[in-house]
Amino acid sequence: MAKGMTRSGTRYVCQSCGAMAPKWAGRCETCGEWNTITEEAIEARPGAGGKALPAGRKIAFVGLEGASAPPPRMVTGIAELDRVLGGGFVPASAVLVGGDPGIGKSTLLLQATAAMARAGRRVIYISGEESVDQVRLRARRLGLTDARMELAAAINLREIVASLEAAPDAALVVIDSIQTMWMDTIESAPGTVSQVRACSFELIRAAKAKSFAVVLVGHVTKEGALAGPRVLEHMVDAVLYFEGDRGHQFRILRGTKNRFGATDEIGVFEMTDAGLSEVANPSALFLAERRGNISGSAVFAGLEGTRPVLVEVQALLSPNPGGSPRRSVIGWDSGRLSMLLAVLETRCGLRLNANDVYLNIAGGLRVSEPAADLAVAAALISAVTDTPTSAGAVYFGEVGLSGEIRQVAQAEARLKEASKLGFDAACLPRRVARGSGRLAAPDGLRLEEIGHLADLVARFVPESAKT
Ligand code: TYD
Ligand code: MG
Repeated sequence: MAKGMTRSGTRYVCQSCGAMAPKWAGRCETCGEWNTITEEAIEARPGAGGKALPAGRKIAFVGLEGASAPPPRMVTGIAELDRVLGGGFVPASAVLVGGDPGIGKSTLLLQATAAMARAGRRVIYISGEESVDQVRLRARRLGLTDARMELAAAINLREIVASLEAAPDAALVVIDSIQTMWMDTIESAPGTVSQVRACSFELIRAAKAKSFAVVLVGHVTKEGALAGPRVLEHMVDAVLYFEGDRGHQFRILRGTKNRFGATDEIGVFEMTDAGLSEVANPSALFLAERRGNISGSAVFAGLEGTRPVLVEVQALLSPNPGGSPRRSVIGWDSGRLSMLLAVLETRCGLRLNANDVYLNIAGGLRVSEPAADLAVAAALISAVTDTPTSAGAVYFGEVGLSGEIRQVAQAEARLKEASKLGFDAACLPRRVARGSGRLAAPDGLRLEEIGHLADLVARFVPESAKT
């Protein structure tokens, strides 16, 4: 045991990162946050403080071989949610759904539970934030009142767990939110790390014991971390974030951890007067407000998980002769933007460093694929030359440090989506002869293969005008 720790029955825990400190301090040494350390009481257990641990039951060890079926799934029927979950909820698992307050977590989960209840499963919704009346009002607004689900407004975790253990056939339990739950054996207030950790532990234990899936709703702080506990992400089987700009009507559900499926899938929803509706064709939504014939805009044929998504990349340059130029990025990696700017200057002879550069992925989507390089470059070149990109073209390809355009995965899927949405051309990496044969491009789509970024620049700047 570390010197000076935990003998007295209290300890000091950082509410931001969960680190323990031997004494109170204004700033957590582990994460550097200020005013996050609070005193918490600990319970004495046998085995603590140097006493001999009572012997445990022996466990059996097994080999790697043996039959194991894929986990059974409970689909909600909301396809966008089921896909992000990897095919539906898994019994005896825990899912964390995080997001900003007001983004629509409660709405989504009420819709999902109602859909499962309609399919004949037993679902329980426990709200610690809203009264039963408020939840009913919401259900009425969403047209869900006919769904036979069980509802309670409660925060006392001991009572909740006892009730769940008495409901053995429950399939899905929603706890909205984990930060309002309160365990009476722990001194600190609801929402603190120790409360959240203890409550989650008990709920997950009950879920494993009784084979129901439990959804823990968690609010995200402004800094983007789940309020208090990152700790929680390690305890659950899957973590889904519900994102979106409150100024926009659409919401994106993104998996960042999933023990039972892929984590790169997204679900797209639109917030309407009657709740969240699924968006089966996100490309059309993301491109809805695009105006053709404006310089500084290019369409990226991207991929989110297994699904192709077209989004508009916008770049704006404004002269900044003195001082250090500003680079501001929304929806893309700023390090990657710096790299592209450097490649455009050094390898392609474009003069950009006397400009402030603003880059935006329209609609609020966050793009993390390197394949977006070529579209970003096109938007930048278009902005600096004040020449619109061709309105009917999509772009994808990774840019290397010497300016070469590199292959990216799933070109066919991207081309198909572009063609489906009425685009007639695609700028893409040159196929290197690797016996790959011809790219199966949809009819009517013109392929413009680009080997080096300078070739793309040349399309915008006539050779004579170049300095
Ligand atoms: P909510 O699900 O309560 O968010 P969270 O649980 O993440 O805090 O969503 C609240 C917002 O959604 C609120 O600002 C109103 C809006 N809303 C709609 O636009 N349409 C609807 O049908 C519902 C129920 C809510
Ligand atoms: Mg809520």
